[in-house]
Amino acid sequence: MPKPIYVLSGPNLNLLGTREPEIYGHQTLDDVRALCEARAKARGFEVVFRQSNHEGELIDWIQEARNEAAALVLNPAGYGHTSVAILDALKMLGIPVVECHLSNPAAREAFRRKTYVSLAATGIVSGFGAASYELAVEAAAGLAR
Ligand code: DQA
Repeated sequence: MPKPIYVLSGPNLNLLGTREPEIYGHQTLDDVRALCEARAKARGFEVVFRQSNHEGELIDWIQEARNEAAALVLNPAGYGHTSVAILDALKMLGIPVVECHLSNPAAREAFRRKTYVSLAATGIVSGFGAASYELAVEAAAGLAR
């Protein structure tokens, strides 16, 4: 059995479904989890799916992924635009990183147009709602082989 794909989500994504649904859609984080698990399973992977509102906890999980994961899908949420510490953790990772966003941050406010995470990501999937996660898992599974 290969190592799992880690799918980590940052702050406020626990409220998916009720949080600004006109931007982020009506699907909940549990719905997203189910999509990720199904897509990963079809590619022969399991998923470790976690969300945190805390920067340090996300960093702990990224560090854990160094030894435990085949690839990482990360929606850093707001921390993507602010966190040098998350970037530094990603730079030590040594496995493929797919950055993922439900919305298309490049088409929104100027401060969302850049993320620190992009500097360490193999690629980015954004703008497809919950399907961004599915596509990101697909990409991560391909990269993990
Ligand atoms: C987001 C986009 C970010 O700009 C925002 O801060 C989020 C969610 C997305 O999934 O579209 O919290 O990462």
